[in-house]
Amino acid sequence: MKSGTTREAQRAFKALADHHREIRDVHLRDLFARDPRRGERLTVEAAGLFLDYSKNRVTDETLKLLFALARAADLRGRIDAMFRGEAVNVTEGRSALHVALRAPRGATFTVRGENVVPAVHAVLDRMADFCRRVRDGGWTGHTGRPIRSVVNIGIGGSDLGPVMTYEALRHYGSRALTIRFVSNVDGTDFTEAVRDLDPAGTLFIISSKTFTTQETMANARAARAWSLAGLGGDERAVARHFVAVSTNGPAVAAFGIDTANMFGFWNWVGGRYSLMSAIGLSTMLSVGPGHFHDLLAGAHEVDEHFREAPFERNLPVLMGLLTVWYTDFFGAETVAVLPYDQYLRRFPAYLQQLAMESNGKSVTLDGKPVRRATSPIFWGEPGTNGQHSFFQLLHQGTRLVPCDFIAFAHPLCPLDHHHDMLLANVLAQAEALAFGRTAEEVSAEGTPARLVPHRTFPGNRPSNTLLLDRLTPRSLGGLVALYEHSVFTQGAIWRINPFDQWGVELGKVLAGRILAELSTDGEPPLAHDSSTNALIRRYRRSRSRLD
Ligand code: F6P
Repeated sequence: MKSGTTREAQRAFKALADHHREIRDVHLRDLFARDPRRGERLTVEAAGLFLDYSKNRVTDETLKLLFALARAADLRGRIDAMFRGEAVNVTEGRSALHVALRAPRGATFTVRGENVVPAVHAVLDRMADFCRRVRDGGWTGHTGRPIRSVVNIGIGGSDLGPVMTYEALRHYGSRALTIRFVSNVDGTDFTEAVRDLDPAGTLFIISSKTFTTQETMANARAARAWSLAGLGGDERAVARHFVAVSTNGPAVAAFGIDTANMFGFWNWVGGRYSLMSAIGLSTMLSVGPGHFHDLLAGAHEVDEHFREAPFERNLPVLMGLLTVWYTDFFGAETVAVLPYDQYLRRFPAYLQQLAMESNGKSVTLDGKPVRRATSPIFWGEPGTNGQHSFFQLLHQGTRLVPCDFIAFAHPLCPLDHHHDMLLANVLAQAEALAFGRTAEEVSAEGTPARLVPHRTFPGNRPSNTLLLDRLTPRSLGGLVALYEHSVFTQGAIWRINPFDQWGVELGKVLAGRILAELSTDGEPPLAHDSSTNALIRRYRRSRSRLD
């Protein structure tokens, strides 16, 4: 970014700070009273996603200033650079071209002058062919049995995206296949996942971009041992029961998986942006190639919307700017993401990695300290469950927690009046958060005076409501792209690199050192702080007592 635009961005931040001082106490009740059409006006619809953002603490002036901030931060330039395949991941010298994963055949997206779309579709075609064979029984295990169980082994982006998508699209998935996910290096995860599986009918997908991740490699080794033990120890069985998804062919081969059974992707796809690459193989096995392509099409439609729509009508831009507004001006530290759909129960967990591994940064693109708060903490649970646990804090706690409600007009599993009840709840929660209940209203109901403060709801708690027609592969693809680009928008405003994750490295290095100290025979010399040293000694002592 040119230094001129940095100064402009500072001025835009300053203008927003001044404006915030003026409107920070304005209540949503007043904003709605002043403009009876606010609930229809502050909405936007694109690519099948309808967003009502009227219950946000913004005026037209706020929005104008937020769009001015986006322009001053050269958001348009950042978007174009990403779509052009420039090395926007500056610390690793890489493009971040996940949008190319969902480009239609025949489209052009280039990385270093090469159109990557044909390679993307070549992998998708191989995946589709493989999935059809597994699903129709053409691909058999070592003993000739058809594959009935699939276990995806991966962690982070090689797990959270796939498991979220698998769960979200279960309605569309094959019930003939049992699909499980193993991520944790805690042996419990693998042990429980395979406890009731038949090795002769089980396929493992080892999903790892780098194929070096400690947890995944340990689980992959456990899987190979389990598989071989159940199949008479014949090493040739590996070729029928293991496939890999990775960018690292040599490491896949070194592990013993034939690279003919490897589905590749590219270092221009970040782990947390990879669920629509071959990392989605478990999804495609579950829902089939047709639905997988619908997922891609939904994401592509939002990609195009993000690239082309003016900021004022641009869903990801609006959502990203609203997050910046609450984070940097109201001091909100978290965002609650509340899908009112049981199939989306893993969506918040997926979103945590997407948002927090991307924007949990404290230096700018050029290595200077960021002067503002960056990513909020994303968290959430499906509704209505959350209402009976943490919603108390959302309504009456001392913290401001902006909420994203996600709901669908049509149920996938209609059951009596359940869906109307579900929708009544999501709408009621957003209404209650925004408007609350005043002390006067509570008193007028005959509430004893001493209880009035307890039963008063301050309101003025902002939320977005995303109301979609139906949860389909296509709408899920759109939802994923919406949040990806909202995260990108936030990163662009904060001038940070949303595509690296150096913050996870130190723990990995230290774990390697400590692992050696835990497993060595003699008493190892320890040079950590006194707390870590003492915990290592205590663990070693209690382990040896139990041995
Ligand atoms: O530790 C963080 C991380 O690098 C994530 O960014 C990534 O999604 C995950 O580990 C898994 O990495 P891989 O797919 O290379 O095993």
